[in-house]
Amino acid sequence: MRNLTETNLTDAVLAKLEGAADPRFAQVMTSLIKHLHAFVREVELTEAEWLKGIQFLTATGQKCDDKRQEFILLSDTLGVSMLVDAINHRKPSGATESTVLGPFYVSGGKELPFGSNIAEGVPGEPTYFSGRVLSTGGKPIPGAMLDLWSTDGEGAYDVQLGDGNTLRARGKIKTDAQGRYAFWTIKPVGYPIPTDGLVGRLLKAQDRHPYRPAHLHALIFKQGFKVLISQVYDPADPHIDSDVQFGVTKALIGDFVRHDEPHPTATDVGAPWYSLDYVYKMEAGEAVLPRPPIK
Ligand SMILES: [Fe+2]
Repeated sequence: MRNLTETNLTDAVLAKLEGAADPRFAQVMTSLIKHLHAFVREVELTEAEWLKGIQFLTATGQKCDDKRQEFILLSDTLGVSMLVDAINHRKPSGATESTVLGPFYVSGGKELPFGSNIAEGVPGEPTYFSGRVLSTGGKPIPGAMLDLWSTDGEGAYDVQLGDGNTLRARGKIKTDAQGRYAFWTIKPVGYPIPTDGLVGRLLKAQDRHPYRPAHLHALIFKQGFKVLISQVYDPADPHIDSDVQFGVTKALIGDFVRHDEPHPTATDVGAPWYSLDYVYKMEAGEAVLPRPPIK
């Protein structure tokens, strides 16, 4: 250890992992150190840049509290969250693609009868979502629980408003015997991720906008099937091809149909209103719920 040089330093640091009892820990740390050292060598990091990096990470941590997670935001905007999701939820062909759960998932959405409005009294354009939940083989899945949430018509999630405890534009709907689901809500609206922290500064430095395109979240649970976490996106959103979190894939784009006449039977629904038909396809497997909500 007395003849360390720029060339042999990495091996000396890696050798320190030989005593690690957990083999996975040793594997992850070995790779992390190798890539970190390679990065420093590749860009020939200056001391000023090193300090700037330390200050950036420090300030990112200081921005976090029980409601705000700036590191997850950083991970999202660097595409790391979607990469981790893609690696951990590789789907067979025919299954609906998975996407990130996002920071606005909270438990507690009420179960409502088939066809209910999950966004009663919420400002926005009325939208009728319906479709089916099927297996990858095309068989209907009865009794699947859809846990649904979206922004209101102004781009805000319920948990961002007031004290954050009044849930709206959020609810659970169960599929019927034919695997069908249906509910009313309001048309989701695109929204910016918070930009008053370090991630905002990082986006600005890259000349990137902070918007996510409009989408409806769904977490679908049924014993015997892998829990499906998905989002359905609105193709008319101006940011559909530049999602700040890299969450959009072709299969997750919904076909929102605009209606310029009042709804024929729902007398409280005037024009315009929208409808969307979307089929979710679930992969057979163990139904494991995701991480608990961050809050
Ligand atoms: Fe969202």
